[in-house]
Amino acid sequence: MKKSKLLALFTVAAAMSFNAFAGDRVGDFTLIDNNGKAHQLSKYAFNKAVVIVSQQAGCTNNRENIARYKQLRTNWDHRGVSFLMLNSSPDYGRDGIRAEEAVWNYDFPIMDDETQLVADALGVTKAGQVIVVDPVRMQVIYRGPMPVQPARAPLGEVLEAIVADGADSRSMDVVNVDFEVAEGCEMTFPAKERYMAEAPDYETEIAPILIERCVGCHVEGGIGPFAMNSHMMIQGWSPMIREVIMTGRMPPMQVDPTVRHWTNSGNIPVEERQKLIHWINAGSPRN
Ligand code: HEC
Repeated sequence: MKKSKLLALFTVAAAMSFNAFAGDRVGDFTLIDNNGKAHQLSKYAFNKAVVIVSQQAGCTNNRENIARYKQLRTNWDHRGVSFLMLNSSPDYGRDGIRAEEAVWNYDFPIMDDETQLVADALGVTKAGQVIVVDPVRMQVIYRGPMPVQPARAPLGEVLEAIVADGADSRSMDVVNVDFEVAEGCEMTFPAKERYMAEAPDYETEIAPILIERCVGCHVEGGIGPFAMNSHMMIQGWSPMIREVIMTGRMPPMQVDPTVRHWTNSGNIPVEERQKLIHWINAGSPRN
């Protein structure tokens, strides 16, 4: 494909995608951390804010800021702010994350975003970025660097505003602060780039996944609450499908004693989840 055509497609797809950049709303998600613990964003709703630091092996910015992250946590965790890290390196794996943690002792839960779909939803573009999310209204309110002085603007100011009594992130302007990517902190999003250039094909790529993983229950007269029996139906349910995939709710975990066979959401391979979500983000096209 010619570069100019690719670029044009990329722009159209970006304008249509329903991810965090459109209004900075972020959908719910669940990820497992380096200790095997699940973190679901909406379950942090007892907090006023969640600070998420994008982390990557070899990112100098992460390593240089370890003391500042800890200082930030000391300043804010008693005021209703939780702290998490997000590792979105594809093919790195939980063992890789654990090895990195053993060396550097970040001492934060590091969520494994192997599909890169959460990075995409949060608008993460490089390691070392700090994202502040209001977990009640599911809004991103800050996306930028870790300041040299953790208490200072802009990050400190955003946190001060969101912990204030009666704060409503919907009336707050999202603070986006760009900064230079430090050595080792570049991120690439191969699946996203591929599917933004050309959305996954409904008939040959999407339908087979649904048939294999979902239609057993989501069929006329099945136990699923709707039948995945037409493109229209699937398109209409797409926002919910995105949510159940991103939070790992579907397919439900089940033990079938007759076949002694476990299936759970973790069994949907990375590539299939990427296809489904990027297809939905592109508007669930019929092609
Ligand atoms: C073992 C049977 C089964 C399989 C397999 C299954 N589902 Fe479901 N699904 C259900 C049932 C039962 C419900 C209703 C109860 C619930 O929401 O948990 C449901 C509900 C849903 C909902 C609505 C959720 C809501 O909150 O209203 C969506 C969307 C969905 N499923 C999508 C999927 C997708 C996508 C797949 C395949 C990746 C899938 N399901 C696989 C049984 C199944």
